Amino acid sequence: MTTTSVSKELLLQRLDGLRQIPTIPAVLAPLLRYLQQPVEQLDVQKVTDLLAQDKSLAAQCLQMANSPLFGRQRVDSLRGAVVSLGFRHLSDIAMSCGVMNMLPGDKASLDPVVFWEHSLGCALVCRTLARKINLSDPTKAYLAGLLHDLGIIVNLWVLPEEFRKAYEIAKAEGVPLHEAEQRSLGFTHCDSGRLLAENWGLAPDLIEVVAFHHSPEKSSHDTALVALVHIADLLCRMSGLNHGYIEQRQVNLFEDTSFGLLAQNSALKDFDWARLTFELDSYMDEVHSLVRAIYRA
Ligand SMILES: [Fe+2]
Ligand SMILES: [Fe+2]
Repeated sequence: MTTTSVSKELLLQRLDGLRQIPTIPAVLAPLLRYLQQPVEQLDVQKVTDLLAQDKSLAAQCLQMANSPLFGRQRVDSLRGAVVSLGFRHLSDIAMSCGVMNMLPGDKASLDPVVFWEHSLGCALVCRTLARKINLSDPTKAYLAGLLHDLGIIVNLWVLPEEFRKAYEIAKAEGVPLHEAEQRSLGFTHCDSGRLLAENWGLAPDLIEVVAFHHSPEKSSHDTALVALVHIADLLCRMSGLNHGYIEQRQVNLFEDTSFGLLAQNSALKDFDWARLTFELDSYMDEVHSLVRAIYRA
């Protein structure tokens, strides 16, 4: 039996552990379901009431609503946040706060703050990129960026010691985390993330993002969305929104497979990448302070 098959068996055996992973907070499911209705049918007070059921989620949403990354003006009440942000933005924010409460805190090898800084950074880059090249629904792109590394949560939760070793290798050698996981565990966070994403019943295109964001050429459902997340992830890993260490390998974004996959998009030809990198730098401080603030809320 090969190491790979042993590890995969181990993963499958421990999948029972998935039941220990907190699901999206109870209040989020009805809220997100409610927010899927046509906007004209939505009621501000109903959304405020749904959010207010979970005090810490409400406090975190308020914190985010006051960040320049989301809000345009200062708000000091939940109702004010709902009105000022609009329903679409609010569901982005509620989802962000909801999933950020999911990482095991104490002994995690990868600091949850660092993990969510990377994920939030990636979500914001996806949203910006999707808007600029009119590629995909920006809200879906944001969610795809936020959830792409879901498998890291699974690994931290289900195989903490095994994942610690993989993370140490990645850090010591400066290689991408998925490469270290493949060598040391025999599978990657793409494999384990896919299991959780399927388990949660996420939409097929989001499952593809989770499963193939490191190999976008394998996707078949929404290749453009997967390629978009791949590029945003690379940009974040090359910047200060990485997984807590610097990767040694130099990546040429323009020679990346994803770039080819998106190349048919005409808006990409004139895309100002230098400007996007500049914008990413300007996000950085705000992403750091926002994620830290959410953890304190
Ligand atoms: Fe990843
Ligand atoms: Fe990532």
